[in-house]
Amino acid sequence: MIDDRGLTTRCVHAGETPDPTTGAHGVPLYQNVTYAFRSADHVEAMRAGEAPHFTYSPRGNPTARSLELKLADLEGAETSVAAASGMAAIAATLLTLVRGGGHIVASAELYEQTRDFLQCDLPQHGSSATLVDARDLAAVAAAIGPATRALYVEPFSNPALHVVNLPALGELARSREIPLIVDNTFLSPALLRPLEHGADLVLHSATKYLSGMGQTQGGFISGRRDLAEPVRETMLRLGGQMPPFAAWMLLAGVKTLPLRMERHSGNADRLARLLATDPAVAAVNYPGLETHPEHDVAARLVGVGPDRFGGMLSFTLRGGPPATRRFLNALEMCTIAVSLGDVATLVWPWAGRDLIRMSVGIEDAADLERDVRRGLAAADMPSRANALSEPTPAD
Ligand SMILES: Cc1ncc(COP(=O)(O)O)c(C=O)c1O
Repeated sequence: MIDDRGLTTRCVHAGETPDPTTGAHGVPLYQNVTYAFRSADHVEAMRAGEAPHFTYSPRGNPTARSLELKLADLEGAETSVAAASGMAAIAATLLTLVRGGGHIVASAELYEQTRDFLQCDLPQHGSSATLVDARDLAAVAAAIGPATRALYVEPFSNPALHVVNLPALGELARSREIPLIVDNTFLSPALLRPLEHGADLVLHSATKYLSGMGQTQGGFISGRRDLAEPVRETMLRLGGQMPPFAAWMLLAGVKTLPLRMERHSGNADRLARLLATDPAVAAVNYPGLETHPEHDVAARLVGVGPDRFGGMLSFTLRGGPPATRRFLNALEMCTIAVSLGDVATLVWPWAGRDLIRMSVGIEDAADLERDVRRGLAAADMPSRANALSEPTPAD
């Protein structure tokens, strides 16, 4: 049955019904390992597929199952598989696709662990990957060979916020009979549902926006049953399944996803515009800015408006690494930390790249602007920052 209710409604209700035994509203945490059968006949009926029944929690758990049903609904997918982390989802997917020595064509701009997995781990399993600029369709087409098993991209890339043309890549992948795999961690299904734009599988680090609170690790693989269910089998053999407690926390997190994404996006849009007009800033990467080279491509994916382009941005200061240090040290509210998708704003200086990545939180925009202005003043003019932070006599 197609769920034609709005996305916010589905975030709250999809995959959930009151507990049939107790009437508990809200999916209970099934923190147990094994499941009892009434009789030998019951076991046989389960094995014959006549009596669906949970057997062993690592193979399937009612709490995690509810979450999988919710995610499948949100993505518009036939099925969704919950994993222990984003990397568990990514590694299991890639290993399943390259079975027997396949090749992956992937974007060169990716979360660094994913890139390392493609470049360092796949060769150890007799497989390989070619990394290309996925904004360049001709380069992607040229990299696909007879052994290529999939095309792999992040629509808004980590950390430079490059945007790829998903429908065009989907068409290319289809013409070469390979699936398009999309890591949609930066946007979440509240802003982009890649299966509607030509993708065959969608991956997530649920550790980020799906959780929203920075308290839970998780990952997802969603898409067609014939592609996603074999990944579940690989993942189970690798021991990468999501524990029930994480699933229970994520059921709560996902309920507020659209509200948070709207706020993250609105705040990021305001900060991107502030940064773009500040003399201390050399470049801002935010696809919502009309000056972003792929703004039109991005708008075709996520729509138009200040609350559509997500909460992630990155930027470079004119003063280079010393200015970056001054900027970070002057911040009073934003936290210097890795990770992203938290309700609190996190900033991180990229190693080996003159880039500050900002995961913009849901705080009041005025407070964020004040903190970023404080950082920019310090980056630009240390003496001005000192004057700003000096207590007045009334303090
Ligand atoms: C875009 C992206 N994909 C995947 C991951 C990996 O997720 P996890 O840390 O949950 O394994 C991350 C982590 O930062 C990420 O940024």
